[in-house]
Amino acid sequence: MSARQLGSLSGAAIGLVLLGAAGWLLRGAQDGVVFGILGALAGGIAGAALTQRLQARVRDDLEAATRALGALARGERPERLYLAQEDRSGVAGRFNQELTRLSDTLSALQLDRARFQAIIENLQSGVVLLDRRRRVQVVNPAAERIFGVWAPEVVETYHLAITHAYALESALDRVEQGEVLQIERREDGRVLQIDLAPVRGAGGVLLVATDVTEERRLLEVRSQFVANVSHELRTPLTVIGGFAETLLGGGVDEQRRERFLRHINDETKRLTLLVDDLLRLAALESGRERPARAQVPLGEVARAVAERYGESAQARGIQVDVLGEELSVRSDRDRIEGIVISLIDNAVKYTQDDGHIRVETGREDGKVWLRVSDDGPGIPEEDLPRIFERFYRVDRSRQRATGGSGLGLSIARHLALSIGAELNVESTLGKGSTFTLAFSDMAGPKPA
Ligand SMILES: Nc1ncnc2c1ncn2[C@@H]1O[C@H](COP(=O)(O)OP(=O)(O)OP(=O)(O)O)[C@@H](O)[C@H]1O
Ligand SMILES: [Mg+2]
Repeated sequence: MSARQLGSLSGAAIGLVLLGAAGWLLRGAQDGVVFGILGALAGGIAGAALTQRLQARVRDDLEAATRALGALARGERPERLYLAQEDRSGVAGRFNQELTRLSDTLSALQLDRARFQAIIENLQSGVVLLDRRRRVQVVNPAAERIFGVWAPEVVETYHLAITHAYALESALDRVEQGEVLQIERREDGRVLQIDLAPVRGAGGVLLVATDVTEERRLLEVRSQFVANVSHELRTPLTVIGGFAETLLGGGVDEQRRERFLRHINDETKRLTLLVDDLLRLAALESGRERPARAQVPLGEVARAVAERYGESAQARGIQVDVLGEELSVRSDRDRIEGIVISLIDNAVKYTQDDGHIRVETGREDGKVWLRVSDDGPGIPEEDLPRIFERFYRVDRSRQRATGGSGLGLSIARHLALSIGAELNVESTLGKGSTFTLAFSDMAGPKPA
């Protein structure tokens, strides 16, 4: 038998069995029992299928809801929730509404937090937030800098880990009672201003620390300056007043009269110079006048100034040499001249008779410099950093003879700064001093 024949034979056999079964079923239907069995069977199968599909949908819906909540928890905006089942109760709609509301609130909070973070991180003042137990909760970068701490190391520790100030304890007691306080601490040459305020509602204390060392120093410098100016003005005024009074009193012979008038004249000149210097300094400090920019031949300026002092130097046997390369810089001639005058004036003034002064120009590492050296008395090391301060003089008693006010180098340094140059000093007591004016690259040094 071929395979085809075998196939049709088995097909016929299955057909017969099915017909037989149908006949049996029809017969069975007549007594109603079979239908009952069939109904139960069909119902069971359909029920199982339906439950499975329902379970799958519920699982899908739960997963979708979990995903949405997960996104929310991560701070992301979740996708809308679509239920696999028909949303008869409107739960998905409400869920979506709530999600939108929550995620809007979350975004607003995140924005507020980012703003708060940006403000606190960029504040120049140190901000430290303490909780009710005075433990550190927040430390911004400025507070890390001011107190020399690292935030991860001090957060959650007692405030003393940062402030090291036992004195703060009593202040904190008062602030916790609702007071707002400001205290000042001085340590290691620094002045810290600490503002303390209670954190209303949440409890704890907000501590804002500001390093006011520079402000305090400037205040001190200013009052010192006023005192110095008054002192410098009073001396010549006393002299002038004294002579004028004597002259007014009469009975002064012609010779003394002339001497007194000369004194008055000299002191008036001194006063005028002093006031001019002060005005010059004020103008320089305010930065009102912009420096000129032109080619300035340094050697030429040095020679001109040295010549001006030639006579007085010669009278005391002081030799002034000007040497070095012919260099020029793009800068302000008047200001450079002002600096060189101040340096040569000092060198001549402070160098003993028969001394030597050298004015030299040169170039090094792309920088052009002008140097004024002398073999005079030199300056004590402890005074060196201060000689550029206004009114600072090394030897006040000696100064009476030289007549300076102590403003020369201060003006010279301001002049140097205003043209982007540096003015520095090196000196050895008993050997001499060297002042160097160096033009930075920005000043545009150019060979002549
Ligand atoms: N070449 C120098 N040798 C020794 N001491 C110097 C020299 N240059 C400056 N000093 C010291 O530095 C101080 C400050 O100098 P500065 O030029 O500012 O003031 P001054 O010469 O006293 O007065 P002014 O220049 O206003 O007339 C001087 O009083 C002096 O003690
Ligand atoms: Mg001087």
